[in-house]
Amino acid sequence: MLKKFRSAISAFHHKEHYASHEQEIADKKYTIREMTSDDIKELLQLERAVYADEVPWTRSAFLAELYSRYTHLYLCVLYQNKIIAFIGTRVFFDDAHVTHVAVHPQFQKSGIASFLLQEVETFANRQHCQTLSLEVRMSNIDAKRLYRKLGYEAQKSLPNYYRIGNEDALYMVKKVK
Ligand SMILES: CC(C)(COP(=O)(O)OP(=O)(O)OC[C@H]1O[C@@H](n2cnc3c(N)ncnc32)[C@H](O)[C@@H]1OP(=O)(O)O)[C@@H](O)C(=O)NCCC(=O)NCCS
Repeated sequence: MLKKFRSAISAFHHKEHYASHEQEIADKKYTIREMTSDDIKELLQLERAVYADEVPWTRSAFLAELYSRYTHLYLCVLYQNKIIAFIGTRVFFDDAHVTHVAVHPQFQKSGIASFLLQEVETFANRQHCQTLSLEVRMSNIDAKRLYRKLGYEAQKSLPNYYRIGNEDALYMVKKVK
C-alpha cells in the first residue's frame, strides 16, 4: 500500500537528475546523458536510419514526452559527439513503461540496448516501481528475444496496435521488486 502511495506521488514529480557520464560498452567509449529538446532533430535522423526512412516518433511526440508531467527518464548515447541510441521511460503508478528504444544499425549487437534497459531498471527501482513494461511488434523477433533474455515476460497481445503496418503488439512485463 505504502509502495503504491509513493509511486502515485512520484508519478507527478517529473524531474529526476541523471548525471551525464562516459561509459565503456564492448570496448568503445560512449557518453550517456539525458535527452533535451535540442536533440530532437538528430533523433529524427537516427530514427530514419533505424527504421528505413520511417519515423515512428514525430517532433511533437518527443516534445510531449520530454515535457510530460509524469516522472520520466529519456537518455541518449553519443559516440564521437553523435547520438547513436536512445531510450525513454515514463512512470505511471507502480509501473515504468519503456516508451521507445533504438540503436543505430552500425552499433547494434554490442550491448547498448542492454545497458540502457539496465539504466531504466535502476531508475524504476529508485521510483519504487514494481514492474517495467513495454510493447514490441509481433514481428520484431530480435527485440523480443533480447527482452526475454533480460527477464521480460509476454503478458498479452494488443491487436492492431501499430498504425504503420496495422500490426499487433506483444505487451511484455518484468517484475523489478
Ligand atoms: C532492438 C534493439 C533496440 C536492440 O539493440 P542492441 O543495442 O542491438 O541490443 P544489445 O546489443 O544489447 O543486444 C542484442 C544482441 O546482441 C548481443 N550482444 C550484446 N553485447 C554483445 C557483444 N559485445 N558482442 C556480441 N553480441 C552482443 C546480446 O546478447 C543480444 O543477443 P541476442 O540477439 O541473442 O538477443 C535494436 O536492434 C534496434 O534499435 N532495433 C530497431 C528498433 C527497435 O526494434 N526497437 C525496439 C522497439 S520495441
